[in-house]
Amino acid sequence: DEVFYAGEPLALVAAESPERASAAAANFKIEIDPLTPLLTLEEALRRESEGEEVPLLCRQSIVKGDVQAGFERAHKVVEGTYSAGHQEQLYLETQAMIAVPDDGGILIEGSMQCPYYVHPELCVILGLPPEKVRVRQAVVGGAFGGKEDFPTLIAGYCALLALKSGRPVKMVFDRNEDILFTTKRHPCRVRHRTGLAADGTITAWEVSYALDGGAYTTLSPVVMARGIIHAVIGYRCENVFIEGRVYRTNTPPAGAFRGFGAPQALWALESHVDRLAEAVGLTPAEFRLRNIYHPGDTTATGQVVDKDYGGEKVVREALAASDFSAKLSRCTHGRSGAQKWYGVGLAFFCHGAGFTGDGEARIHARAAVELDADAAGEPWVIVRVSSTEMGQGSQEVLSQIAADALGADREHVDCPFPDTAFVPDSGPTVASRTTMVVGHTVHAAARKLKQRLEEFAADTYFGGKPTQLVADVFRTDEGDGRPFAQVALDYLQRSGSVREESAFELPPGYRWDPETFRGQAYPAYSLGCNVAEVEVDPRTLQVRVVRVSACFDIGRVINPLQAEAQVHGGLTQALGYALMEKIGVRENGRFDAERLQTYIIPTALDVPEYDVRFVEFPYEYAEPGAKGLGELPMDGLAAAIANAVKAATGVRVCELPITPEKLLEALHPQGSAREEDAQ
Ligand code: MOS
Repeated sequence: DEVFYAGEPLALVAAESPERASAAAANFKIEIDPLTPLLTLEEALRRESEGEEVPLLCRQSIVKGDVQAGFERAHKVVEGTYSAGHQEQLYLETQAMIAVPDDGGILIEGSMQCPYYVHPELCVILGLPPEKVRVRQAVVGGAFGGKEDFPTLIAGYCALLALKSGRPVKMVFDRNEDILFTTKRHPCRVRHRTGLAADGTITAWEVSYALDGGAYTTLSPVVMARGIIHAVIGYRCENVFIEGRVYRTNTPPAGAFRGFGAPQALWALESHVDRLAEAVGLTPAEFRLRNIYHPGDTTATGQVVDKDYGGEKVVREALAASDFSAKLSRCTHGRSGAQKWYGVGLAFFCHGAGFTGDGEARIHARAAVELDADAAGEPWVIVRVSSTEMGQGSQEVLSQIAADALGADREHVDCPFPDTAFVPDSGPTVASRTTMVVGHTVHAAARKLKQRLEEFAADTYFGGKPTQLVADVFRTDEGDGRPFAQVALDYLQRSGSVREESAFELPPGYRWDPETFRGQAYPAYSLGCNVAEVEVDPRTLQVRVVRVSACFDIGRVINPLQAEAQVHGGLTQALGYALMEKIGVRENGRFDAERLQTYIIPTALDVPEYDVRFVEFPYEYAEPGAKGLGELPMDGLAAAIANAVKAATGVRVCELPITPEKLLEALHPQGSAREEDAQ
């Protein structure tokens, strides 16, 4: 009865060509009585502050200690408000889906992150039993969260049309439609109020974390959950009050984008922490080293920090690699007469790996490892997971983990694109969970296969003597050996193909309360520290990032080359978020950016020198000890750049992106644009 945003789907039309479909759709006569829309977070917050009731999609708070008492003990109170707008994922290929009617059921193939999000939803939409719906991932060129939930919608549209028409139906968004109507990063406004003792100890911390969720709930509650848990993460404080709210506006639903609420939280947090340092006369590095977690400290949700926690190591490594303190003394702070302003900025950040709270217990990821013969009759180990390759390298990493767990060469192992006809539900490819959670599950399944083959080899060739598969050879203690390929072939001939499965369990004693947000918010945390160096042209106020030194703890690094590439991509996406990417909402409710001329992202020419390092604090519980990487490099760079811009220009910009216009406004709040016009 009510249309909630411009671009909301109202009817579906299929035809033999896009032109005919458009012509047919033009025949719909839609009568809409206009209502007054609510189009931005700013407007929602303004109306709320004036006492108006504004629609909320969800809210949640986190309480630790006694924040009032903490403020009473404070020597200083520091406040700050930080905001950012939408960010578009801008994956290489746009949203695309095919549905084919198949023997009373439906086959779906397309661009997606989560085949097992599409599958159960289609069973509901179409009223079909699970075996009548088959979902295959096509080759995907990037997703970044943008293909988490949205593909389910267009799979539904295609499937309805395919079943109605009895023919295959394809839907491919053009870039313009993709930018205008698909999910984006939630715009945010984050308010911090922090109490500090004279020595820089944090006595109280209050945060209000507000997001614009767009017209429908979709993933907003989980994005907000991750956001509020990351609101003050990394810093010791006994008295914390955090409140998250997601406002409903009449814009396309916001959704998942690399980091999932954490980049918004960490952009605010790490800008604010620089202010805290300044308030007590400490350098950004001194303040952080004094206040970051040490083993035994607790997070805002009461999670105890591990005995081998890499926070200090990560910070010290990034400081040393960048020669931070020497560079800090070169910052120009907006000095007049300088040809170029120079600044250096720091950010430290943690990222919860895997689903929030007890999500991993609820999804209970499964993975299988099979031994079969390939088309040429060679033995073939197949990793069966619903995890999707989208350019990040999961197929390689999961194959490596399986080969390593088996003790066989990597060349025997493959991880094909998922097809729900063959793969168990390993959960979605989101939340920086694949290498850690699914990797561990693959590892366990491969260990079962290894044991089966070792027993077979012992009985078949070595008279029952204990046999181990190491470096692609089955060996006994006496040194007799048989190559993997031969044993595997003999096994296949004797017993046929075999499949071993495993499922992920959270560690014993893991506790999370979804009502109070108390307990272990994540199974593990990855860490990062970024140092950004910027140059600002005092005349154009253009910011150029010249160098980023980054250190990360992602536990065990499974594939160093791919890990570094992930970091380059993530840092570059964060650079765009910091300096360039912006979308406004027009009065008619449509976004004002709709193509690559109006939505600007970094190109190769904007990419600075990256110095990337890893330190390894493996996740003890899940072999081989990886923690999440995918989202982490998106988290810290925006704040590091803002802090560097402050050191360069003397002014802090608290709203992303940091454009020359905003810098001009910050440097000359009295409207000196007019003065300059006059010159
Ligand atoms: Mo999602 S942002 O791919 O966890």
